Amino acid sequence: MNYDVKDLALAKKGDDRIEWAAQSMPVLTQIKKRFLEEKPLNGIRLGLCLHVTTETASLCRTLKAGGAEVHLCASNPLSTQDDVAAALVKSDEISVHAIKAEDHDTYYKHIYSVLAIKPQITMDDGADLLSTLHSEKPELLKEVLGGTEETTTGVIRLKAMAHDGALKYPVIAVNDAMTKHLFDNRYGTGQSTIDGIIRATNRLLAGSTFVVAGYGWCGRGVAKRADGQGARVIVTEVDPLKALEAIMDGFQVMPLSQAASIGDFFVTVTGDINVIRQEHFEQMKSGAIVCNSGHFNVELDLGTLAQNSSHRRNIREYVEEFTLKSSGKLIYILAEGRLINLAAAEGHPSSVMDMSFANQALAAEYVVKNQGKLPLKVFPVPEDIDKEIARLKLASMGFSIDKLTPEQEKYLASWTSGT
Ligand code: ADE
Repeated sequence: MNYDVKDLALAKKGDDRIEWAAQSMPVLTQIKKRFLEEKPLNGIRLGLCLHVTTETASLCRTLKAGGAEVHLCASNPLSTQDDVAAALVKSDEISVHAIKAEDHDTYYKHIYSVLAIKPQITMDDGADLLSTLHSEKPELLKEVLGGTEETTTGVIRLKAMAHDGALKYPVIAVNDAMTKHLFDNRYGTGQSTIDGIIRATNRLLAGSTFVVAGYGWCGRGVAKRADGQGARVIVTEVDPLKALEAIMDGFQVMPLSQAASIGDFFVTVTGDINVIRQEHFEQMKSGAIVCNSGHFNVELDLGTLAQNSSHRRNIREYVEEFTLKSSGKLIYILAEGRLINLAAAEGHPSSVMDMSFANQALAAEYVVKNQGKLPLKVFPVPEDIDKEIARLKLASMGFSIDKLTPEQEKYLASWTSGT
């Protein structure tokens, strides 16, 4: 078996951590049981480009239980958990190509290793596998039945490809399932981003001013959790509707140019480039802590910051100090501007990834079942799958809900009774 991981001796630690995470993934566990019996992915070559975490390991084990041949590389150079990568190779004979802190060339070498197996389904978090396949290995397109995409940034990228006529196989936007973004993006990013900042800095959030750039589902979650820690939260936005929502959720809203001089902590969750720029760094208080929790490391303009700094050093793991040439002020950048929740912490907690990865597993099954019949575009997870995951999650949490009476159903389907 072909693999490239840091150290197979880490496998036992990885296995224990995967087992611990799986205890909070009851929906995926149920799917795995069914997959073991029904083998819906029998013989299918699956290429996965996902964050290599304990939760992803449970997904890999589920897909393998379904009969798939699973090949995994990282979707970010800093998010790999090396013990998990080792466990998947040693205990599951899954071919993993991922090493935490790999450089750009190694990152792509690992993507090519997964492409070398000629995947029939691609599963992406950020669309790097799919876009490399399209742009550099078009001869593989004929093998592919379809793909899935985990994250907002990837879905935006794929929709741009589809718009340009460049997308050559159907892709299910797992991110857009309700049981994905309402929970993973909001509560997952919310908790794990705060977790990453605290693990990296060990600073107190209570009483601080905490600036969140972007009020999508991730921004909403980060702002709410920072508020819960006792920070004064400022939201910056470009969308008037989201700005209004942030105001009515109780947060201050102002342009970043104004927030820059007030904030103690800054987090970007916009999905866009150069959100925090030199003009903002120059205005910040000395000691400001700046990080990103968006998918790509493009939201902070670190190139210009480096050019305008007289000195830089690592002051502790995941914390780099930049001294501004102009003023001598100190700016602290966490985790090289890469997603702080996966670089300095362990990503979203398992119980929320349970639903995200249940969507991934069922989307892969859907692609196989409907091969040749899928539309050549980016399309959502079918609603019945989304609702079924919600039902299973509720039941696993021990909650039950009401049912419409026949009279209520009839009323909802009618238009004749009014005032
Ligand atoms: N994305 C965010 N958190 C994650 C996790 N724990 N595992 C895989 N992908 C993630």
